[in-house]
Amino acid sequence: PRLPSGLPWVGQGLEYRKDPLGFFLRYADRGAVVRTRFVGTDVYLLNTSEGIEHVLVKHFRNYPKDAFQKRALEAVVGHGLFTSHGDFWMRRRRMMQPAFHKNLLAAHGRVAVRAANTWLASRREGESFDAYPEMMSLTLDVVAGTLFGADLSAQARELGRAMEAVMLHAQFLFATPLPLPAWLPTPGQRRFQAALRTLHAVVDDVVERRRRQGAPGEDLLGLMLEAQAEDGEHLTDAQLRDECLTLMIAGHETTAAALALSLWLLARHPEAEATLRRELATVLGGREPTVEDLPSLPYCEQVVKESLRLYPPAWGMSRVAEADDRMDGVLVPAGTVVAWSQWALHRDARHFPEPEAFRPERWADGLERRIPRFAYCPFGGGPRLCIGAGSALMVLRLVLATVLQRFHFDAAPGPAPEVLPAITLRPKGGIPLTPRTV
Ligand code: HEM
Repeated sequence: PRLPSGLPWVGQGLEYRKDPLGFFLRYADRGAVVRTRFVGTDVYLLNTSEGIEHVLVKHFRNYPKDAFQKRALEAVVGHGLFTSHGDFWMRRRRMMQPAFHKNLLAAHGRVAVRAANTWLASRREGESFDAYPEMMSLTLDVVAGTLFGADLSAQARELGRAMEAVMLHAQFLFATPLPLPAWLPTPGQRRFQAALRTLHAVVDDVVERRRRQGAPGEDLLGLMLEAQAEDGEHLTDAQLRDECLTLMIAGHETTAAALALSLWLLARHPEAEATLRRELATVLGGREPTVEDLPSLPYCEQVVKESLRLYPPAWGMSRVAEADDRMDGVLVPAGTVVAWSQWALHRDARHFPEPEAFRPERWADGLERRIPRFAYCPFGGGPRLCIGAGSALMVLRLVLATVLQRFHFDAAPGPAPEVLPAITLRPKGGIPLTPRTV
């Protein structure tokens, strides 16, 4: 592996910042492990499934989340499932995993279809809308329902704004090499603190009400209220708040971006849309889809997989080596950050011929079993696989199945939407779509 030339100390930091997605693509065929340097930190780029498996599966205890990520996300969600490591993480994961049990996800499915129908009721034939903010509002509805079993539509605007503000700040912390101390009352920090207070107030209020009612329910909060560690301990209010915020943040933007870009992809690929519509007509015949219908909707699943391949909401991942390690013959000294990008991995022509083409049918006949394990990894993998992956895949399919039965969407001709690799991958400009009744 070659060390690409760059400025001393700063290394490739500036090159990366200019175009993070292009950066990973450019170095994708420079070897299994490419050594770079980002403003004083060694960052090794991993380009093979084996390398990622080494970090996420075989030696995952040696690779906690790195300081860049922790600094950005701990400010928002505190110390919980997403940001912790080691025994603390394991204990928390064991407590929370049962809430995501397959049998309980049927309730998420009902929430998703209800949210899709509410959204459809606000759409008019021929009236254009911008897909990303619309899907943000739809998925906020899904988050409120799956997490709290509650309708937070009265607070939706305030909540949406606060989530946007905390994510903006997290992005700022992530991208700034030397951030100001958190106590400095800059305008940015003040806006962030105010938004965080709003989120805390909403979550604390729901948690308090639920504790008073003593109602468990099938939503994630009800299940987390009941969750016990091996020693019988329950989550405290402060811990519950952090975990609720974690799940809100982890599931909101990601699912919204995936839906917005899926709608655009279908709008621009009439053959794929027609195939999907035929499948929906045959299996559902105009009625609402349920979780039980999903195995009969294979093309719908292929559409979702292909959309997550081209536009992976989690577009990159990273970890830091706690102790010296060796990977593919390369020494990885303690303190080295290792990073990889789903954006680049999912565009590897060896596994996905014509990688830029939207071709849902490439997933037919078990493509996933024929490619290396981490060639496709929109939800990460190993013990820290996205805990919401099953829920998200279900929500995406059910929302698309509900919406596509009612409308076709016209998209303007022209290039694909520009995307912004922030904490999650999100559309940069608008994605105008115009509904037409089918
Ligand atoms: C972790 C992607 C939806 C909750 C992750 C990771 C990825 C990911 C790549 C691994 C991060 C890492 O290990 O560094 C996605 C995508 C989603 C999605 C693409 C939607 C399309 C959700 C939803 C929830 C959720 C709906 C919750 C309801 C979490 C949590 C973790 C996580 C709590 C941390 C798990 C752990 O470290 O044990 N997600 N996610 N995600 N996700 Fe998701």
